[in-house]
Amino acid sequence: MTPRHLLALADFSGERLRALIDRALVLKRERQAGVRHQQLSGKIIGMIFEKPSTRTRASFEAAMYGLGGLVMFLSARDTQLARSEPLKDTARVMSRYVDGLVVRTFGQKVVEELAEYSTVPVINALTDLHHPCQVLSDIMTMLEKKGDIASRRVAWVGDGNNMANSWIQAAGKLGFSLTLACPEGYEPDADILTASRAEAAKPITLVREPAAAVQNADVINVDVWASMGQEAEQEARLEVFSSYQLNDKLMKLAAPGAIVMHCLPAHRGEEISESLFEAQAVTIFDQAENKMHMHKALLEAFLLS
Ligand code: CP
Ligand code: NVA
Repeated sequence: MTPRHLLALADFSGERLRALIDRALVLKRERQAGVRHQQLSGKIIGMIFEKPSTRTRASFEAAMYGLGGLVMFLSARDTQLARSEPLKDTARVMSRYVDGLVVRTFGQKVVEELAEYSTVPVINALTDLHHPCQVLSDIMTMLEKKGDIASRRVAWVGDGNNMANSWIQAAGKLGFSLTLACPEGYEPDADILTASRAEAAKPITLVREPAAAVQNADVINVDVWASMGQEAEQEARLEVFSSYQLNDKLMKLAAPGAIVMHCLPAHRGEEISESLFEAQAVTIFDQAENKMHMHKALLEAFLLS
């Protein structure tokens, strides 16, 4: 049975993920053709964010308005959550007002508890463990740019963070090979790696050297070295990750025509050089645009089912 909530990509079949990507591509074409949508008219989503956001917030709001629906944005620090009202009460109250909840928070347990008590769908808009909506729109971008998913060689360079974990789960479901280069002590979640490897059609490989991951890769992903909530580690991480910058020299090892993706925000001069970022800017900003089309597909799928 397809889950009612979108908490992590591993909860879905590869066919279901592919159908969401295909639907997002249709919605993108329709927007470009000036088609107006109203299928979520009369629906409201509540967005509860405990961390900052530019793209995810704006693209979910644009997606919901673009489908004729309405959005209620709640910054968690302005709610009673900040004064320790239990999540399970917040979930039950919000379920009475809205048709879906989009949540950005710290622990994966938080979205799991909200989902347990919510009577409306809960969509994970980033936790410390996963960023499923982002990786789905990134794979949509990979399909657009590279023409296929399963046959592509994907690399991850840097921290084994929430994005890396969601890429691993996507590889397990969608059949592309994935090589991640992470420093010792900064590997992705071990349980996620084991579970995804068990169902993956192609290898999901962990290496130390960025060059080993980038070699012959078609798609190379990078992200910040210190994620939201890790600000106190910023200085230490600059040191640990100093040899993990994706730059023009490293890119020479990639397959001809390889693309670089970055979920943004980017720290130029850290995880990616300024010149490589600008050389790949078309892909990176298409990737940001695709978040809106993908979020339309997700809102449609989860609110109308
Ligand atoms: N990529 C992403 O999730 O960006 P925001 O933090 O701006 O939402
Ligand atoms: N890994 C980053 C992603 C930001 C979109 C973070 O969690 O801050």
